[in-house]
Amino acid sequence: MRRYFVAGNWKMNTTLESAKGLANAIAADVTQKSPMVDVAVCPPAPYLVPVREALGSSKVSLGAQNAYFASPGAYTGEVAVEMLQDVGCKWVILGHSERRQLFSETDDLINKKIVAATAKELGVIFCIGEVLADRQAGRMEAVLQTQLEGGMKDLDAGLLGQFVIAYEPVWAIGTGVTATPEQAEEAHLFIRSWLAKRYSAATAEGIRILYGGSVKADNAAELLSQKNVDGALVGGASLKPDQFLPIIAAAAKLAEA
Ligand code: PGA
Repeated sequence: MRRYFVAGNWKMNTTLESAKGLANAIAADVTQKSPMVDVAVCPPAPYLVPVREALGSSKVSLGAQNAYFASPGAYTGEVAVEMLQDVGCKWVILGHSERRQLFSETDDLINKKIVAATAKELGVIFCIGEVLADRQAGRMEAVLQTQLEGGMKDLDAGLLGQFVIAYEPVWAIGTGVTATPEQAEEAHLFIRSWLAKRYSAATAEGIRILYGGSVKADNAAELLSQKNVDGALVGGASLKPDQFLPIIAAAAKLAEA
């Protein structure tokens, strides 16, 4: 039985004060109510330490939004996996469509980052997803397959202990357009089948596949109730406790059912 996982991707948002306030609100609620759901927040890099402090001993784990693959050294502007672990990160988001589109990250670069993070046992939230033109042209599965093959190249099954895939159709990110539960399930099933072929049925069954793209309080339960949807990667709605906490609550309710 896979545990639900709800992660908030704060992107390049919040201030020091609002980040701490958001972390406090989430930590207080999750500690009381959601023993069946894993929760993480991924603030901007400068706020990782204060957010970790605000999370205190709560069950909410800390994640980063990016990492570089090399060991610490002369890479101006980059952040190493070791540094993220040093400040308490359990997760890093890699392969997000904004990194791919705005910062030209290729499958090859993302693969190097995934290999570096998994080798050091930093949990990875690996994002994949097709753009609208691909979906309309019937290329959704081909795009996902290319991203999976590229991103997970040379990745042994033994490195997948803390490995989560996030299916995020690019046309649904920040647009208010959400994939239907059926569209999400279809893509998630394709991803799980690919994992079964690439690794084994048992490995595929153990990997959580999150849905991301305009997840909100009012559509979370429907999406999360799909068989192969094991959680959510939440952008916009993760910045507001009154939106984010009900998403966690929806997962908790399904987990208890
Ligand atoms: P959104 O972003 O929830 O604002 O659509 C999701 C994401 O980019 O991870």
